[in-house]
Amino acid sequence: MDFKRNIIITGGAGFIGSHVVRLFVSKYPDYRIVNVDKLTYAGNLENLRDVEREPNYVFVRADICDYERMSHLMREYRADGVIHLAAESHVDRSIRDPFTFARTNVLGTLALLEAARVYWESRGEGYHGKLFYHISTDEVYGALEMTRPQGIEPPFSTSASSGEHHSAYGEEFFSETTRYNPHSPYSASKASSDHFVRAYHDTYGMPVIVTNCSNNYGPYQFPEKLIPLFINNIRNRKPLPVYGKGENVRDWLYVEDHARAIDTIFHRGKVAETYNIGGFNEWKNIDIVRVLIRTADRLLGNPEGYSDDLITYVSDRKGHDLRYAIDSRKLQRELGWEPSLQFEEGIEKTVRWYLENQAWLENISSGKYQNYYESMYGSR
Ligand code: NAD
Ligand code: DAU
Repeated sequence: MDFKRNIIITGGAGFIGSHVVRLFVSKYPDYRIVNVDKLTYAGNLENLRDVEREPNYVFVRADICDYERMSHLMREYRADGVIHLAAESHVDRSIRDPFTFARTNVLGTLALLEAARVYWESRGEGYHGKLFYHISTDEVYGALEMTRPQGIEPPFSTSASSGEHHSAYGEEFFSETTRYNPHSPYSASKASSDHFVRAYHDTYGMPVIVTNCSNNYGPYQFPEKLIPLFINNIRNRKPLPVYGKGENVRDWLYVEDHARAIDTIFHRGKVAETYNIGGFNEWKNIDIVRVLIRTADRLLGNPEGYSDDLITYVSDRKGHDLRYAIDSRKLQRELGWEPSLQFEEGIEKTVRWYLENQAWLENISSGKYQNYYESMYGSR
């Protein structure tokens, strides 16, 4: 069967990648979607059970660092688009094992870029109809100050129809022109990969787009990240390890809204541009934890305040960035994308999903992940 487009999506068995694969496979039956994933501890094909039998879906287990294999896959599937999500994604792991992050995030991205360049140039059609779309993070911009007085109740950011945005935490947001200033090995590796992608445009003329998104939440997120970890621990009456004072601020976006943004940008974004993606939805960690406790206790039928005593302040993350806040007005203005879900609704859906998908959590919490979890937090 001839497909209208042949798109390689890397990291499609991970959290965000699985939502992107699901969206593209179901929305574009005339595209062939090739999910290339190494299936590290974070990759889980159970995330894609509902699309795995679709005729326009192919899964290939491969390491993006394997240049020969990436070249072969580009040719075998006649790829005209790459949406690159595969990465090592957890900041705490990067602090313990930075080499793995440099290998996958930097060298893996480079191997993929070079495989795409050589294949596309070999076709003698120029780069017409091709796109290398790189998914990155707001963490490359570093951290913002907290410059506003505290004590205001959430939600902290508002998205006014005038296009103005206000934050209870500070005047500054990360825009597409904010200078890169990464602090963790994870963000340094992502920053480096972003630079390589842009260099391929500037040097070889490859059509590229880079997007930098804020914190995602929703179903299928690996339970090492704040939200799924804490929902799981509330259910199992385990301590909730809040780093430092819980004062750090993150800007949260429902994962399906990120996947929709990726769809919009892949099809209508301007080549060589950067777009920031975020929901103008900043929360202090401790406030998120309280919302999670309140929601999970209600859904579990526990009395109000039942799980409050699980909150446990632990030593801070090394180099912990204070505040992230994304200005996504360029994307809203130029391509008309908007987040679809209010945070309260997204959190309710998310908590409910994890509580109802205990088998998914149990499978993923066994084996290797459990060893890592215990080395971080002990056997609690
Ligand atoms: P994840 O850790 O859930 O999934 C990563 C996927 O990549 C896994 O399926 C894993 O098996 C695969 N992978 C890892 N190394 C690989 C390799 N060498 N070869 C092939 N596959 C490999 O990550 P996520 O949270 O879904 O993040 C996806 C992308 O989005 C990453 O690039 C990340 O930097 C970026 N991002 C994440 C967030 C977030 O909040 N999670 C926000 C902004 C940007
Ligand atoms: O901003 C985008 C980034 O968001 C992505 O690029 C990363 O891939 C993704 O992992 C996420 O990074 P964070 O470090 O912000 O996410 P995490 O869920 O690990 O932590 C969120 C906040 O919660 C952070 O301030 C650290 C804190 N935290 C986290 C864990 C796991 C805790 O207080 N306790 C915890 O146990």
